[in-house]
Amino acid sequence: MSKTSRIPGFYKKPLEERLRIIQEFAGLTDEDVKTLLNSGSLPLELAERMIENVIGAFHLPFAVAPNFLINGREYFVPMVIEEPSVVAAASNAARLVYAGGGFKASTTDPVMIGQIQVAKLKNPQEAKEAVLREKEKILEMANEKDPVLVRLGGGAKDVEARIIETRRGPMLIVHLLVDVRDAMGANAVNTMAEAVAPFIERVTGGKVYLRIISNLAVKRLARVECVVPKEVLGGEDVVDAILYAYAFAEADPFRAVTHNKGIMNGVIAVALATGNDTRALEAGAHAYASLGGRYKPLSVWEANERGDLVGKLEMPLAVGIVGGATRSNPLSRIALKILGVKTARELAEIMVSVGLANNLAALKALATEGIQRGHMELHARNVAIAAGATGELIDKVVEIMVRERNIRIDRAKEILEELKKKES
Ligand code: MEV
Repeated sequence: MSKTSRIPGFYKKPLEERLRIIQEFAGLTDEDVKTLLNSGSLPLELAERMIENVIGAFHLPFAVAPNFLINGREYFVPMVIEEPSVVAAASNAARLVYAGGGFKASTTDPVMIGQIQVAKLKNPQEAKEAVLREKEKILEMANEKDPVLVRLGGGAKDVEARIIETRRGPMLIVHLLVDVRDAMGANAVNTMAEAVAPFIERVTGGKVYLRIISNLAVKRLARVECVVPKEVLGGEDVVDAILYAYAFAEADPFRAVTHNKGIMNGVIAVALATGNDTRALEAGAHAYASLGGRYKPLSVWEANERGDLVGKLEMPLAVGIVGGATRSNPLSRIALKILGVKTARELAEIMVSVGLANNLAALKALATEGIQRGHMELHARNVAIAAGATGELIDKVVEIMVRERNIRIDRAKEILEELKKKES
């Protein structure tokens, strides 16, 4: 089988066949396949080691989105999410982008910021100068804490210092810039920030309080660009409609936040599948969207001289492929294997591409036929199941509700009763 993720009708294939395609594509072992088939059961001993006070394990659907061509490489992208149509939207948009040559993504070095808060300073300016004078010593002390990271080419690389005015008077905020390589980085950065804090207290004469990573990862950015030929989108009018949608988001924070929510649908689904910290990503993304003083869409859409649609997205993406749940959860390990990523940077490049894909799918639907048509059937399925439909009755209840354009739990229950009566 050729290594392509562009498989028409992938979504129509039975689960077992989809799994066989992924097994062959990603070289999964039979054991991996068994784990996926039994993925209703995160072993409880493992769950107990992940968090405290465990009384069970909570599951979400695990899917793959085909059609992703990123930097010339084909991917099936693992996505974990509760919301219907996010995976379908990502796959559909990726198919459109495929026709335009795929996504071109890049990342900066994976540099995270550790903050050390110094208060009660007699002279904040002198304290700042003292910290900067001792930069090399601070870096050395930080790097002693993680020789493995240093050996891999990472480690503390720089020190910055800012004076801020607060309700408790001026404070000196020291930033320790740490290249965390393939980790999300919170552990390494927090350990280093705590390690250098006593020395910073000594050289500044102040009192250190907080020593913690910042989730506003402005030095760890992922960028992506795509071109979608206007013919593939359905013509100039569709391009134009999408540009109107973008102009709306650019001018109005109420719309921009929903626009960005659509981006995060894709980003977070991949983050969940790969065992990454979704709260850190959400916090960083929305703060980055407001950095200019007003909340803005994270993506930019425009038309090129041919009239094709061009999309760009830049956002902080602090994700890892080592540490945390990325390796301890067997399903995250399999998700990383399906992606075949070798570095956290590559993972971030995939995530930013999926974010742009979901954004494109949402804008295309919203600017043309509206979002509800595509959502309706999936939504109807959930409602039918919630009303108690099982087996073949699910499809029958869905069909009737969609035909009637009336998708409500009370109607689903009525239809179910009628169908059961007819059967008996
Ligand atoms: C729904 O999960 C996401 C959308 O609201 C995004 C958007 O409005 O751009 C459809």
